[in-house]
Amino acid sequence: MDNKSLIDKLNQYKRLEHNEWTTLIGSFTEEDRAYAASLARSITKEHFGNKIYFRGIIEFSNICKNDCYYCGIRRSNCRLSRYRLSNEDILLCCREGYRLGYRTFVLQSGEDGYYTDERLVPLISAIRAKYPDCAVTLSIGERSRQSYEALFAAGANRYLLRHETANAGHYAKLHPEGMSFEHRINCLWQLKEIGYQTGCGMMVGTPFQTPETLAQDMELICEFQPAMVGIGPFIPHRDTPFGAEKAGSQELTLFLLSLTRIMLPRVLLPSTTALGTVAADGRINGVLAGCNVVMPNLSPLSVRKKYMLYDNKAGTEADAETGLLQLKKQMESIGREVVTGRGDHADYIKKEEAKND
Ligand code: 5AD
Repeated sequence: MDNKSLIDKLNQYKRLEHNEWTTLIGSFTEEDRAYAASLARSITKEHFGNKIYFRGIIEFSNICKNDCYYCGIRRSNCRLSRYRLSNEDILLCCREGYRLGYRTFVLQSGEDGYYTDERLVPLISAIRAKYPDCAVTLSIGERSRQSYEALFAAGANRYLLRHETANAGHYAKLHPEGMSFEHRINCLWQLKEIGYQTGCGMMVGTPFQTPETLAQDMELICEFQPAMVGIGPFIPHRDTPFGAEKAGSQELTLFLLSLTRIMLPRVLLPSTTALGTVAADGRINGVLAGCNVVMPNLSPLSVRKKYMLYDNKAGTEADAETGLLQLKKQMESIGREVVTGRGDHADYIKKEEAKND
């Protein structure tokens, strides 16, 4: 079967066989990519019209107990000055975000042991109480099931935990001993079971990645049926073991985003900051490949440069209002409208309403 037929098959059956994924990912042409993008765009239009949802990311701590070889805020990076925002600072970010029209706050941090459930529960409840029409997304890494339950009960609605790679051997080449693929996947299934709108995803172009491991990523996404998928290119950070590696390709990232949209028509698919970092028009290209979410930075300007997951990360210069305006303009230039609204996944709208009663 040629690649175009494989893309059509994916569109029809919403899955492919392992060797079909590997072939498609390993041999696609520019023509195949354009074909997948146009299919993905029309699927996105069917489900979301020209609407783009925006989420404000608040990077509230860059302290991390992990030592992932790719990540700029890894524990061993001693050239980085570390910070934690106070609850007050975080609530100020939400206030500014709300004023600007945000209706989802994404709280992201390194795996910082300071943030026990005792500290996070009151913060999450306070945000939900102050802004009852807003969703809270957590992106704070691997925790116990009990903790995930407590944070969900406090009002958290969504959870982002990229699986990073679905190949256990590859996982072990990106992470030091002590971190395991198995544990990460267990966390993902627990989050979903508890009732979070859950997001997985991977970087594209990490060292040792192959069409084979990417095929496994797509199969994992297919099996997991996430509400959200985060896919962005790997970008080296100079103070990490992968500092001299090549960045992932924009084209492959866009192709995988389109295939994800074709496989999961209603998924919430952000056009990532990393995509906007490898190319000035990267986030526009993401939307043209089937993305329907953007996640501008809402962190205080004073800490932005300290949350450097990779070199030259986009969005560290402009304040929240200016950054959002720039992004809105970009989106309008391609006929998209950035809309205010929670933008829950369709499968969860009723459950979320029940949760608020
Ligand atoms: N390049 C691109 N993405 C990165 N992330 C971490 N380090 C890098 C990097 N060097 C991504 C990981 C993580 C998310 C928060 O950021 O996929 O899950």
